Amino acid sequence: TDRYCVFGHPVAHSKSPLIHAAFAEQTGEAIAYTAIEAPLDDFAGAWRRFSAEGGRGANVTVPFKEEAFRLCDTLSERARRAGAVNTLILGGNGLTYGDTTDGVGLVRDLVGHGVALRGARVLVLGAGGAVRGVLEPLLAEAPASLFLANRTAGKAAGLAADFHDLGEVEGGGFDAVAGPFDLVINGTSASLAGDLPPLPDDLFAPGATAYDMMYGAEPTVFLRWAAARGARPLDGLGMLVEQAAESFFQWRGKRPATAPVRERLRQAL
Ligand code: ATR
Repeated sequence: TDRYCVFGHPVAHSKSPLIHAAFAEQTGEAIAYTAIEAPLDDFAGAWRRFSAEGGRGANVTVPFKEEAFRLCDTLSERARRAGAVNTLILGGNGLTYGDTTDGVGLVRDLVGHGVALRGARVLVLGAGGAVRGVLEPLLAEAPASLFLANRTAGKAAGLAADFHDLGEVEGGGFDAVAGPFDLVINGTSASLAGDLPPLPDDLFAPGATAYDMMYGAEPTVFLRWAAARGARPLDGLGMLVEQAAESFFQWRGKRPATAPVRERLRQAL
């Protein structure tokens, strides 16, 4: 039985062990997947110990994604762009390879829900680590335009500049938002506080989708606001399951079916 885990702090709330157990059962892969609370001051040591004791790979969540990025010997291009790693793989040579599957998870969830990205006018709210982590895969889908809007306008402008070579991406403050948009993705942590960024009422094009990278038993304040303005609301539960599926694929070479796992989690929220 090959060992995997998710590292976080705290980590008890993580749904990753449930998700990967479901994937393992579904694909017949013999893996054990646990949650490990790494010490805040020694993430590298926790990974070293885990891999020395037979660990083959790991997921990494808050607050260790940047530290995981720094300890990798080699990185995927999308992880290099993200400046963060959520998937560690121990190579046969003993070297650690890092990838980030959050962005591809977001894109797969959107595509799976029938949301067209090619040629779409996309607005992303936020300019923190969560947003940086998804920009490369989003831009790879060739949207017509991607505007990053953030409370701190300079951060959005700087982030846009970092990705300018990959497509039509610009950034600014919420006051610079000019719709309509086909897709609006909330990547701020404002939902956590029940806050809503200041946005114009005519944000959405007909048939638009509103996506919140957060999820919960109840729709977030952003999704409620968006649904009231005619957008189709989608929360981040699907992204959670899809990023896990991509990590599983990186480790085991098998792609589990995600919809049944997502629905099972939904029931339990
Ligand atoms: P994460 O890893 O979740 O991206 P982060 O890097 O701290 O965390 O980024 C948090 C994001 O949420 C930022 O874009 C932040 O805006 P600022 O850059 O202006 O700080 C945004 N954010 C957090 N609370 C917010 C609020 N109440 N209203 C609007 N934006 C908020």
